[in-house]
Amino acid sequence: MRNFDYSIPTRIHFGKGQISKLGAEVKSCGNHALLVYGGGSIKKTGLYEVIRAQLQEQGIEVTELSGVEPNPRIESVREGVALCREHSVDVVLAVGGGSVLDCAKVIAGAVSYEGDAWDVVKDKTKITSVLPIVTVLTLSATGSEMDPFAVISNLSTNEKLGIGVEAFKPQASILDPEYTFSVSAYQTAAGTADIMSHILESYFTNEKGAFVQARLCEALLKTCIQYGPIAVAEPENYEARANLMWTSSLAINRLLVYGADVEWSVHPMEHELSAFYDITHGVGLAILTPNWMEYVRTEENLWKFVEYGVNVWGLDPDMDDHEIADAAIQLTRDFFSGLGIPATLQEVGIDESKLEIMAEKAAAQGLQEAFIPLEAEDVLEIYKLSL
Ligand code: NZQ
Ligand code: ZN
Repeated sequence: MRNFDYSIPTRIHFGKGQISKLGAEVKSCGNHALLVYGGGSIKKTGLYEVIRAQLQEQGIEVTELSGVEPNPRIESVREGVALCREHSVDVVLAVGGGSVLDCAKVIAGAVSYEGDAWDVVKDKTKITSVLPIVTVLTLSATGSEMDPFAVISNLSTNEKLGIGVEAFKPQASILDPEYTFSVSAYQTAAGTADIMSHILESYFTNEKGAFVQARLCEALLKTCIQYGPIAVAEPENYEARANLMWTSSLAINRLLVYGADVEWSVHPMEHELSAFYDITHGVGLAILTPNWMEYVRTEENLWKFVEYGVNVWGLDPDMDDHEIADAAIQLTRDFFSGLGIPATLQEVGIDESKLEIMAEKAAAQGLQEAFIPLEAEDVLEIYKLSL
């Protein structure tokens, strides 16, 4: 196991009714909140009113930024930064899925920079301070509620870039599983695939001595396999929603990678698909992941696939190692299909025309340091396998 410095400072208020803590949490950070939300789901569910009441009770002034898009755009960040400056905002409150949270994080950081917000996404050293961030999560997927990352799209340049800043870890996050009852079957499936991908990206590391991290990964993967299908079939099943919600946070809050860190593989490949075609992140991951597994599997790393097949999918350890690896990859594929996720890129409107440019851009994002180093031609092959 490698050395690491551990810090996961976000206060989590998990469970039914925990929204009652929101007002005090926001008040402890500031007096004027930028309330950031998406296309209206929080108004349909009634959460908006509850939040406004909490803020009013504490005498917190509120400025709103609504309409943040899935795969949030740099334009929304710019709008949020302008609002913060105009109204002297001192705390950013994000209510929604990962897109809303990510947009809020970059707003909170870009306020400190005089130039264009896109400069900050491209070069995080331009951020000199970050406004405190509080979140209310409504979709279990990205883990943004407890992690240092944000991902922003610039459709004018076909770029979707992630940045990681320690101060982007929220001060506090409210995680009430009931707020995810209204998430559609499609987004629930995509969210489950995203959570699983975060775990798999950490699990497939070359660090053999990270035993505890690997076992944690397996427990979380089994949780997704257990509860993803239940949440899709029974959207108001509290137990399923609760287990997925806490798993989404644990999957990417760094717990799994401290001491076993590895550059991720499938995410950079997927971000190019979203940048060019604006597809749902978790769907792209579910399509690519089994094909990435097929492609990177070698004799040297076969042990990892065997471990995955036996410990996660319950395969018989007495089977031939190659058969276990085959079966584990097939089970992964079948699981995503069983959730109702498309299995090919063509099904989500992606054809061969841009595969090469996307492969080049993905390879430029650190894939040479991944579990199995990947060059542009490797990524192209994985895209072709996924067509
Ligand atoms: O905009 P609203 O109306 O809220 O609707 C959203 C949106 O249409 C809807 N939704 C959210 N909560 C709902 C709900 N609908 C009904 N009931 C609710 N309770 O769901 C749709 C998708 O929302 P979005 O926030 O886009 O989904 P997700 O949480 O999957 O976020 C995806 C974004 O996060 C990035 C992805 O690349 C993508 O841009 N990621 C962020 C990461 C991070 N910060 O660490 C890591 C991830 O790997 C990922 O890259
Ligand atoms: Zn993801």
